[in-house]
Amino acid sequence: AYNEKESLFIALNFAREFFQQNLTTEEGQSIGLSYFKERGFTPAIIEKFQLGYAMDSWDRLLVQARKSGFETGILRKAGLILERENNPDNYYDRFRGRVVFPIHNLSGKTIAFGARILTQDKKQPKYINSPETAIYHKSDVLYGIFQAKQAIRQQDNCYLVEGYTDVISMHLSGVENVAASSGTSLTESQIKLIKRFTDNVTVLYDGDAAGIQASLRGVDLLLEGGLNVKTVVFPDGEDPDSFARKSGAADFRRFIESQAKDFIQFKIDFFTRDAENDPIKKAAAIREVVSSIARIPDPITRSVYARESARLLSMEEDLLLAELNRQLLKTR
Ligand code: UTP
Ligand code: MN
Ligand code: MN
Ligand code: MN
Ligand code: MN
Repeated sequence: AYNEKESLFIALNFAREFFQQNLTTEEGQSIGLSYFKERGFTPAIIEKFQLGYAMDSWDRLLVQARKSGFETGILRKAGLILERENNPDNYYDRFRGRVVFPIHNLSGKTIAFGARILTQDKKQPKYINSPETAIYHKSDVLYGIFQAKQAIRQQDNCYLVEGYTDVISMHLSGVENVAASSGTSLTESQIKLIKRFTDNVTVLYDGDAAGIQASLRGVDLLLEGGLNVKTVVFPDGEDPDSFARKSGAADFRRFIESQAKDFIQFKIDFFTRDAENDPIKKAAAIREVVSSIARIPDPITRSVYARESARLLSMEEDLLLAELNRQLLKTR
């Protein structure tokens, strides 16, 4: 007999294979596979990320899983089926008529799914994701970490992106040291996960207001975790996926290498945008930079960055250190 977690792994693995198989059906080819092709996904990348398709049906997975001996209780605990509101003990598939992105743990086992809608339907969410289960804690996971871990170690850097398709497009562009926070705020356990492989992170969030706000928050959390942080800001409306497709692999790689700035320059640029000579904005920028530096746990690293930012802001180091100490005292 299997314990519950083992049963969940088996059910998710069954679903993952089922979704992959669906891509070979007529519906899967004409809808799912052609969607992936339009996005420039090759058969090799589809295989590498084990992408699949959930049929446009209420219970195709449920019926097949039941035939294969899975009990509804396990399928429900795995997040694969939902109970009908007015009719308990009557279930339907959670993922329907969507392309499917399996989410893997560090050893490559499927622990959850993200599933993207194929149309622009504004009434439905773009992505539907697995719920929290006994084997899936969203806040502990980074999408793509299994496919990236070796490259992160080799490159001694992790690119951090927002979305599933950013990860995949970057692999297509030859950049494999990349993982996604999947559109939510970074957590301490995600940061610990990165730290198992490298101390260096480059944040590559979407080039819109939400992405920049998320970068600012992410930078502070990563600094608190003791990581070295750089950021790349994409042109407005672009994300790593759209930008990689527009510019081609070589130009994309050149762009992220040449545009990666340390967090100090990123914050200075952001807080003094359109107003380089505005003294009030500059003072605000200084306090903002200092507030990030104050989060760095190691005092030596902190002092190196304090000196560097005094130089970049062309201000006296003593003044900046005084503000740093003021903020450090305030938060302890
Ligand atoms: P984005 O809206 O930037 O989507 O959300 P995307 O990754 O660029 O997707 P494409 O290119 O339009 O296909 C970033 C991430 O936030 C999560 C997903 O993980 C997504 O990849 N998200 C977004 C959801 O979970 N649900 C949503 O409805 C939207
Ligand atoms: Mn947990
Ligand atoms: Mn976005
Ligand atoms: Mn995006
Ligand atoms: Mn996108």
